[in-house]
Amino acid sequence: QKLKLSLEQIEKGGYEHFMLKEIFEQPKSIHDTMRGRLLVDEGVIKMAGIWDHVERFKNANRIIIIACGTSWHAGLIGEYLIEEYARIPVEVEYASEFRYRNPIITDKDVVIAISQSGETADTMAALKLAKEKGAFIYGICNVVDSSIARITDAGSYTHAGPEIGVASTKAFTAQLTILTLIAFKLGKHNGNLGNAEFMSLIAELDAIPKRIEEVLNATHEQVQEIAKDFVETTNFLYLGRGYNYPAALEGALKLKEISYIHAEGYPAAEMKHGPIALIDENMPIVIIAPKKGHYDKIVSNVQEIKARKGKIIAVVNKGDRQVSEMSDYVIEIPETSECFSPIVASVPLQLLAYYIAVYRGANVDQPRNLAKSVTVE
Ligand code: AGP
Repeated sequence: QKLKLSLEQIEKGGYEHFMLKEIFEQPKSIHDTMRGRLLVDEGVIKMAGIWDHVERFKNANRIIIIACGTSWHAGLIGEYLIEEYARIPVEVEYASEFRYRNPIITDKDVVIAISQSGETADTMAALKLAKEKGAFIYGICNVVDSSIARITDAGSYTHAGPEIGVASTKAFTAQLTILTLIAFKLGKHNGNLGNAEFMSLIAELDAIPKRIEEVLNATHEQVQEIAKDFVETTNFLYLGRGYNYPAALEGALKLKEISYIHAEGYPAAEMKHGPIALIDENMPIVIIAPKKGHYDKIVSNVQEIKARKGKIIAVVNKGDRQVSEMSDYVIEIPETSECFSPIVASVPLQLLAYYIAVYRGANVDQPRNLAKSVTVE
């Protein structure tokens, strides 16, 4: 009997879709992104692009992160990281808004452009504008020699490997890995991050691929079961605080892109300023609630949702009691320092979006109306 495999099936490596393959590749893609950069035993982060221009970063008035979509969500987490560890002011801009609003930029500004494809038209146009005004441009791209990579002054490639699924997964966590390395490196250099904390953070970062592997193994089957209950759902809310607010935005974007279910991400505390009106027994709410990161505040948000009979899907740390007891579904992830929690929490949210979309019969790898690189404005 002849075994016929199409080229595409071979490329999918036994997975039903590229997206699932790419979700499962994350332990490796994060590891590859850190390889040669994070030297834990020597207590060093090697990034030539940063090191060669470290004075530009150190003396920058501010860093402006420019991106679109998922890369913009990575940028928001980058803001938390760089401000916390390097204490340099950061602004995060949608490329499409930045380019049309006559922004104030000087040669004391450093712009970080984040783009998986390196071809996004709005990001490219925003960078050209920033460059004309004298800003120093640093790129974080996944595609080597892409247009954005070529116009930047320096940069770091995410070594996530080709991402075929239109919904970005492994490129996102690779972007977070680079932003984490940048924040730690700058913080160590400018003295805001002490040696002991630096050493402990880089050891934890080094172990993140292992943590992701644990999450994939522990949650894969469970998330499939949860997804079955939401095939007919028409709306979703995603909530998180601090570092996990952008992770909530990203979780919601993943779901809407591939399943065509309306989903909104919010900072959990903003709920009372509007979205709480939406909550009833038909509204599922995904809430990211790790131990480190405003846990008590999240507990009160969960109580508020529970009182309104919302269906709670909670992403919590192993052994969690308080949030878990109030939740309808509980997904456990390992406890990490707060700054790593969006990387770890994003994985089950990618799986949740993936399985809901699969059960709805959607074209997961090529969702309607979307392209992998948006080269038009
Ligand atoms: C991600 O899932 C989306 N397909 C989309 O938001 C994407 O992140 C955005 O178009 C930016 O693309 P880039 O990273 O290639 O610039």
